[in-house]
Amino acid sequence: MIKIKVLTGSVRPNRFNIQPATWIYEFAGKRKDIEAELLDLQEINLPFLNEPMSASQKQYSKPYTKKWSKTIDSSDGFIFVTPEYNHSISPVLKNAVDYLYHEWNYKPISFISYGSLAGGSRAVEHWRGIAAELKMYDLREQILLPNYWDNLSKSGRYQFNERHEGAASQLLDSLIFWAKAMKKARENLHP
Ligand SMILES: Cc1cc2nc3c(=O)[nH]c(=O)nc-3n(C[C@H](O)[C@H](O)[C@H](O)COP(=O)(O)O)c2cc1C
Repeated sequence: MIKIKVLTGSVRPNRFNIQPATWIYEFAGKRKDIEAELLDLQEINLPFLNEPMSASQKQYSKPYTKKWSKTIDSSDGFIFVTPEYNHSISPVLKNAVDYLYHEWNYKPISFISYGSLAGGSRAVEHWRGIAAELKMYDLREQILLPNYWDNLSKSGRYQFNERHEGAASQLLDSLIFWAKAMKKARENLHP
């Protein structure tokens, strides 16, 4: 079974992040051809990177790094749910990424972003450069939620609609296609 992980990109107490993260995780969970999991960095609670060796050496000293390594190693594709902080990515998600290296390699990644008029797209563009360094394949398909605050109900719930679901289906189709192909390709790797 293909394993798709949704990563949160904010751990602030009143973060918007958990709404799109939960939405795409639940939407992905309806697919019979994948196993989806929500990896909430608020729960995972990694400290600022404090491993003595570079992740490229894969010699981890801390129990939480070993656990995180196993989690990402066993994954086949990712959806990063990213805010845009000062026209770039959030430090908490970059920190979680920097803990590892080989575990991300040769796997597809897509993005859901949100923010003001640009919908977090500047953060996603920065993520694409980082993905290249991690030997990941970043998908064309992505979901942007511009001015998300204009689309909240009175109780503060984002109003996802059919258009969002259509975009999510396309994103998942592409992610699953590449996750399957890259999983097969990884079997030929000789590390
Ligand atoms: C440190 C910081 C910087 C921000 N910079 C931007 C920005 O560059 N572009 C943008 O669209 N929104 C920006 N915002 C507004 C965020 O889009 C908004 O606060 C959003 O809710 C943050 O995501 P979160 O609630 O999941 O943490 C910024 C917010 C913070 C906290």
